[in-house]
Amino acid sequence: MAYLCKFILPAALIIILAGQALAVELPSPAALSAKYNLSSRKITVVEPHASTNERRTLTDYTALPVDALLTHWFGEHWLSESAEIDFFAKDGYRSVVAGSKLKQYRAFLAFARTDGAPFTVDNIGQNEKQIALGPYYLIWDNLGAPELLRQGAYGWPYQITAIELHSKTEDRALRPRSVAKNLEQGLEETQEYCLTCHNIRGIGGKKYPLDLLRAACRWQDADLQAWIESPSRLKPGTTMPALGRMLPAQERRQIIERIVDYLKAMKAETPGSCATK
Ligand code: HEC
Repeated sequence: MAYLCKFILPAALIIILAGQALAVELPSPAALSAKYNLSSRKITVVEPHASTNERRTLTDYTALPVDALLTHWFGEHWLSESAEIDFFAKDGYRSVVAGSKLKQYRAFLAFARTDGAPFTVDNIGQNEKQIALGPYYLIWDNLGAPELLRQGAYGWPYQITAIELHSKTEDRALRPRSVAKNLEQGLEETQEYCLTCHNIRGIGGKKYPLDLLRAACRWQDADLQAWIESPSRLKPGTTMPALGRMLPAQERRQIIERIVDYLKAMKAETPGSCATK
């Protein structure tokens, strides 16, 4: 880790080599398509930020294919079992997507609305309107993919400025020493549903830089569950989204329980995490 090498390529692409992690700062769409000879195309999606289970909103985006870009940057590495790709947003949001998901489904980097409308979205889950999506927005060809529709807006980060490849084993600090199988699943769900904005031991996103182990100390389990299930019921107008609002109620409840159990186990084995505020 002490060794960090940085060099600049002609098309304003910056690649940082730090151990195994490779990071790419994204240049403009015109520079990207010219450099890799990619043409942008129209992708029609069920816009998950603006849709509910009752009412789906279709949107056309102009976008570049993610798989081709990843192969240009990382060769075959992003296809390996342990590969994870991080999408970093301007506001500190960090979305981690498994390489296997990018292999299974078709993802694109959108940079405009095809109909010329402003490149913004209304985010129902976060009570926010006309959020800017640029410079890049990760979208998925979800029209014929029920599993993607169920996941809603998870894995759809916007305002992306950089992309990084790393390997799963780098998240060892998130693993409880007492690795019970049910905690393993809770860990994965915490990464997916919480660490985009918050962190544990510094690992995670910076959108709302809160260490979840510390936060868990201030909350009773039942209150924490109620908060995750519906933040806006406890605090109207909050921008923290309810977990997985497109999922069936029973499944949501189970995920929330596993997340709270995982946080409890981590808290228990981190002496001092509850010492001061
Ligand atoms: C999209 C970003 C985002 C995601 C994802 C998210 N949160 Fe939050 N969270 C916030 C924001 C913003 C606040 C501040 C809420 C406020 O005060 O209105 C917050 C506040 C909190 C708080 C209260 C903080 C305190 O001071 O005690 C807790 C606890 C919390 N989040 C836990 C979680 C957990 C657990 C998850 C995963 C299930 C999660 N959050 C997912 C954005 C997020």
